[in-house]
Amino acid sequence: MHHFRYTGNELHCESVTLAEVARLYGTPTYVYSAATMADNYTRLARSLSGLDVQVCYAMKANSALAILRHFANLGAAFDLVSGGELRRVLAAGANVKRSVFAGVGKTNEEIELALRSGIFSFHVESEPEMARINHVAGRLGFKAPIAIRINPDVDAHTHAKITTGKSDNKFGIPLKVAGAAYEAASKYPNLHIKGVQMHIGSQLTDVAPFVEAVRKVSPFVADLKARYGIDYFSIGGGIGIVYRDALASGSAEWWDAQPAGQRPLTPEAYGAALVPLLQPLGLKILLEPGRFLVGNAGVLLSRVEYVKRGSAKNFVIVDAAMNDLVRPAMYDAFHEIVPLHRDTSRAAMVADIVGPVCESGDCFAKERSIQQLGEGEYVAFLSAGAYGYTMASRYNTRGMAAEVLVKGSTFELIHDRESFETMIVNEHVPAFLK
Ligand code: LLP
Repeated sequence: MHHFRYTGNELHCESVTLAEVARLYGTPTYVYSAATMADNYTRLARSLSGLDVQVCYAMKANSALAILRHFANLGAAFDLVSGGELRRVLAAGANVKRSVFAGVGKTNEEIELALRSGIFSFHVESEPEMARINHVAGRLGFKAPIAIRINPDVDAHTHAKITTGKSDNKFGIPLKVAGAAYEAASKYPNLHIKGVQMHIGSQLTDVAPFVEAVRKVSPFVADLKARYGIDYFSIGGGIGIVYRDALASGSAEWWDAQPAGQRPLTPEAYGAALVPLLQPLGLKILLEPGRFLVGNAGVLLSRVEYVKRGSAKNFVIVDAAMNDLVRPAMYDAFHEIVPLHRDTSRAAMVADIVGPVCESGDCFAKERSIQQLGEGEYVAFLSAGAYGYTMASRYNTRGMAAEVLVKGSTFELIHDRESFETMIVNEHVPAFLK
């Protein structure tokens, strides 16, 4: 559920008219709903009541400082994957003492920064990394808190580029050798074995792979508790969101109308299936949700530049491009696209919705049926709150989009549109060319 809907014929985010935001700040602009994020967070936390839960928001999904502050205020910690992300948490005025540091390629500098900042735990992905963390911790006089990422070899049945828990992925240590890895960790003088972690993939819309993975690793987790006194088990992130019926899925009625067995995963179903499996372990449970918390809480606003009618095809050319929202080009991802001003008297048209970047891949939707649109009108790409802005680039020397946060009837720019001057500020033409 979310807070984007038409009131009259104008698309609103909470009580704010999105066309007003587009007119005021221009396009492309990401707009986020604070209430949707808060609702998602509370719903998820509530679904796992009965467990001692620590939600570590996977900030790679959306790391705007304002959003980090919002989640910190709600009580979240963070799942971070780089020194840059760690510094973002600090810049947002939050601390990292309940946050975890994941990723397969942590550098010496990043390990040092995390130790000095009091990171809750490192999620270790390999044996050489374990040796490295031990070494850096020793040099600085720390005992580094760690958990090993277990690769449970479970198929998440999601897009190949975002499945992570199969044995041929680069992530984690296979379950069958994880015992030896813990044994090795216990011998390092500067490591403190604190927990165990797994993450099987992203955008899962069925609870079965989560259940399979928890069942598969639980005996091992119980054994780790007995042997090393670990105190937490992180079950990762991965809860999916609705992309296809994104607008409709804002309402409770839509969810109620979905036939049983076909309803996309809800936090309640996730909790109902997992709490009974996790409770007997008697451990703190960490969650690392990214997309679920922010995905349906954000849209990308864009303006129609041209409508090009061809003999074979129509093209709606908008001012957002693959550099702003890469998911369709990268994963063939579907994003619902809706006009900010709805006019039911107009006929629908079938068109490819494309951006201005000089690549055929810069296509948001092929042969999409959409209300007839004209130059200067606005559209919104829905479900763009996760992996939208954070994966954006400056390809074609297009500056980064603006970001706006809505709360009730107020809204504020949380990230200025990038100017040409700031885009080139770190570039230099060498003297030998002058
Ligand atoms: N924990 C770990 C260790 C992860 O690698 C990830 C995501 C998460 C948590 C959060 O997963 P989530 O709850 O958001 O599914 N760019 C892709 C998604 C990549 C996900 C990478 N890892 C996309 O746009 O679909």
